[in-house]
Amino acid sequence: MKLAVIEGDGIGKEVISSAVKVLDALSLPIEKVPLEVGLRKWEKCGVAITDEDMETIKECDCILFGAVTTPPDPDYKSVLLTIRKELDMYANIRPIKPLAGITGITGRNDFDFVIVRENTEGMYSGIEELHDDVSYTTRVITRKGSKRIAEYACKLAKTRKNNLTIVHKSNVLKSDKLFLDVCRDTARYQDIDYKDMLVDSMAYSLICSPQKYDVIVTTNLFGDILSDMSAALVGSLGLVPSANIGEKHAFFEPVHGSAPDIAMKGIANPIAAVLSLKMMLEWHDDTEEAKIVEDAVNHVLTQKIRTPDINGSARTKDIEYALVDYVRKQLA
Ligand code: NAD
Ligand code: IPM
Ligand code: MN
Repeated sequence: MKLAVIEGDGIGKEVISSAVKVLDALSLPIEKVPLEVGLRKWEKCGVAITDEDMETIKECDCILFGAVTTPPDPDYKSVLLTIRKELDMYANIRPIKPLAGITGITGRNDFDFVIVRENTEGMYSGIEELHDDVSYTTRVITRKGSKRIAEYACKLAKTRKNNLTIVHKSNVLKSDKLFLDVCRDTARYQDIDYKDMLVDSMAYSLICSPQKYDVIVTTNLFGDILSDMSAALVGSLGLVPSANIGEKHAFFEPVHGSAPDIAMKGIANPIAAVLSLKMMLEWHDDTEEAKIVEDAVNHVLTQKIRTPDINGSARTKDIEYALVDYVRKQLA
């Protein structure tokens, strides 16, 4: 397998460096292709990702990605959105489940749900018009885009509790009526238990009763916001991984950003990046290795080797060394 490794900016560099050490400890036949994209590339070349970078990425099977900082430029074309769209990675999968010994803001650990976020359209259409006194962003919802994400969510629900929640705002956004109708029809056809929720009351319900949910399917921006909010249930943005899945390619990244407030301090939590690596191993059917990585994370957390975002005093490197040590012992 050929893997593009993009550290990106800020803590992206720190957390991907740790995830790669964990990957190396597994000694799998994976060819790593390092690529520099993001703010530094933009400062040097005026673009954050070049056409050549995109060609190299297309030659790889998948990508392990840290995070990039958005440059202060109104004409900036997002690296993430470029990769997601050009490789048509339409499903953004964000599992929200508790980790060993860690509880988030609600103190509960009885939930386990997955946000399935449509990743190519909605408010992220890129169709925008900016003027001095008025600006527009066109929200695009298509039958094709809604159907394929609904099918992905239903397929996932079948491997879990067969329960789907469709999250929308069709009381105000007429475009969401199409999304809702297509998701309902797909769930009915596939015999999935489903219900729908308006996104505002869903945000409330997720905080009050997260244990009620299994698979959540929603449009692009709602999925973005609900996933950061849900990270607070787990305990930190530094703990939540994600996968962007398309027909041919896949791209694995923490849910968090480049966190300029803690960059270069050596205290970023690398677990979201390491669990993104775990999702990559599962996608590639390296199931045993994926399990070892997940066990390593839970082992390290149980040992109370924790970064400051989850009330510990360990550094990124301490977590990395402990994870690598655990993996090596499992394989010895
Ligand atoms: P952020 O996710 O970078 O940080 C939000 C808060 O969470 C900060 O206080 C940060 O310190 C904390 N945090 C995040 N990850 C952490 C970790 N691994 N360990 C410990 N604490 C962690 O969001 P932001 O500050 O709004 O965005 C910063 C930059 O990142 C912006 O330029 C934004 O556009 C970009 N961004 C990039 C991605 C990506 O590339 N995948 C995702 C989100 C935001
Ligand atoms: C995410 C990020 C991105 C998004 C930004 C940085 C383009 O917030 O991956 O959640 O909005 O999708
Ligand atoms: Mn986000």
